[in-house]
Amino acid sequence: TANGSYRNFLDLTQFDGDELRAILDTGRKIKSSRNGVRRGEGPLAGKVLAMIFEQPSTRTRISFDVGMRELGGETLMLTGAEMQLGRGETIADTAKVLSRFVDAIMIRILDHHELNELAENATVPVINGLTKVSHPCQIMADVMTFEEHRGSIKGKSVAWTGDNNNVLASWVHAAPRLDFELRIATPAELAPPQDLIDAARAKGGSILVTTDPYEAVKGTDCVVTDCWVSMGDDDAESRHNLLSAYQVNNRLMSEANSDALFMHCLPAHRGEEVTSEVMDGPNSVVFDEAENRLHAQKGILAWCFGAS
Ligand code: CP
Ligand code: NVA
Repeated sequence: TANGSYRNFLDLTQFDGDELRAILDTGRKIKSSRNGVRRGEGPLAGKVLAMIFEQPSTRTRISFDVGMRELGGETLMLTGAEMQLGRGETIADTAKVLSRFVDAIMIRILDHHELNELAENATVPVINGLTKVSHPCQIMADVMTFEEHRGSIKGKSVAWTGDNNNVLASWVHAAPRLDFELRIATPAELAPPQDLIDAARAKGGSILVTTDPYEAVKGTDCVVTDCWVSMGDDDAESRHNLLSAYQVNNRLMSEANSDALFMHCLPAHRGEEVTSEVMDGPNSVVFDEAENRLHAQKGILAWCFGAS
């Protein structure tokens, strides 16, 4: 069975009983000492992060992959369609199986209940890489970016104009916890759920909800928007009609403080929710934001692994 520097394991018919026993013994030894396989140096050396993507991604995928490697760990890139998940294996069973193999799981999945089900059934850390309900890693990077440019976000104001979506929800979650004012403008038909707003206010959050983007943006320290059609939305045409008045352009930016930052989680749709003059303008920090996904998530990973 020897073939140059490696040996194929193609079928048990390759081996006699003693050879199979030796392979099993080696497996047992490695199982009892999970450090048996030498990996890179760093705080997460020897750790493997499985990443499951039910939806496309550029930033989340690459920043987690590179971040894990830079911390000394390794990653597995999986898509639901390629796994037995795509043929109906349950999330719970998948969580239990993955927990036997990997040290943490990052998942992007539209159904937030399925994220919770994964976390309830896994015995390793699970990280939300975006659901229809929230995108917490993004807002960690966004806050990091704001503070690099303008100092503490505490007492500052952030305006959101456009759709109510997962990214906005995580901004709402952050506002009372990090003590900044959030000023939200959406069409009435796409307003954030009242219980989301009530919960933030109950925690002391200062949250304005309006349908007027100019009211939201007036005097603010940061203007944020996102795409009009999120992953999983199937009503693109009505969204474009409802949201065209919420575009971030120079006219809207001129209502904000003169040094107000512009943020967008990306990917952007230039000419829709934001004009190129704002995206590429002097107040835009969108590419710093993208880079900070890497740095913020290293903090998240280290925390998840108890390495911080
Ligand atoms: N902002 C963000 O999550 O981008 P991706 O969809 O490219 O991961
Ligand atoms: N709200 C967008 C964010 C993409 C990173 C979406 O859910 O598609």
